[in-house]
Amino acid sequence: MDKFGIPVAISFALFFTLSLASPIQIHAGFELLGTVEGKIFVSPIVGPGSDNLTYQDAISKCASAGYRIATLESQAQNDVVEANARRWSWIDGIDLQIPDVFFSINTGKNLTYTNWTVWGQRPVIGKDDYNCVRISCNQMDCGWWDVNCTDRYSVICELPVGI
Ligand SMILES: *[C@@H]1O[C@H](CO)[C@@H](O)[C@H](O)[C@H]1NC(C)=O
Ligand SMILES: *[C@@H]1O[C@H](CO)[C@@H](O)[C@H](O)[C@H]1NC(C)=O
Ligand SMILES: *[C@@H]1O[C@H](CO)[C@@H](O)[C@H](O)[C@H]1NC(C)=O
Ligand SMILES: *[C@@H]1O[C@H](CO)[C@@H](O)[C@H](O)[C@H]1NC(C)=O
Repeated sequence: MDKFGIPVAISFALFFTLSLASPIQIHAGFELLGTVEGKIFVSPIVGPGSDNLTYQDAISKCASAGYRIATLESQAQNDVVEANARRWSWIDGIDLQIPDVFFSINTGKNLTYTNWTVWGQRPVIGKDDYNCVRISCNQMDCGWWDVNCTDRYSVICELPVGI
């Protein structure tokens, strides 16, 4: 190569790397729900076992593809996910430590945004078996429900991309 060859080759390599990498890459077996506020939200494509996940399974399912269970931190994030909540799905939030105080397993902090449904919001009754958060729609009533962590649903995963 002459003295221009190497920089040109590097420029071409960079160009192709960037132009091929720039579309959002979704892990095989997952589908894109939407992007907002620097997060990519995905869920498993419908298939064997895709809607048969306990909360523990859900965490593993996201992690297996390099994602984490989705922490919905704002109305904008909730809206993107809720538009796709036809499938009942786990999201981040458990209250195993203090009854009815839900915290993020991703950040360790109490959730500050929540969107309990009109019907799903349970009265504060102290310690119970409803320790994990599901997002789902029943008729027109979309939102969060605190349910048994051993129930089986799909999951919403996220990838923070820091846009
Ligand atoms: C869901 O998974 C459990 C545990 O692996 C299994 O026993 C059950 O048959 C599965 N249900 C469906 C509908 O696939
Ligand atoms: C979460 O909220 C509860 C109840 O308000 C409080 O006792 C606890 O200290 C909070 N945890 C954190 C990590 O802020
Ligand atoms: C929950 O989300 C709905 C939109 O689906 C919104 O209209 C409502 O204000 C939200 N509720 C809370 C408590 O944030
Ligand atoms: C929650 O699930 C566990 C394990 O499947 C079960 O033993 C328990 O009775 C359930 N609790 C409620 C309130 O359904």
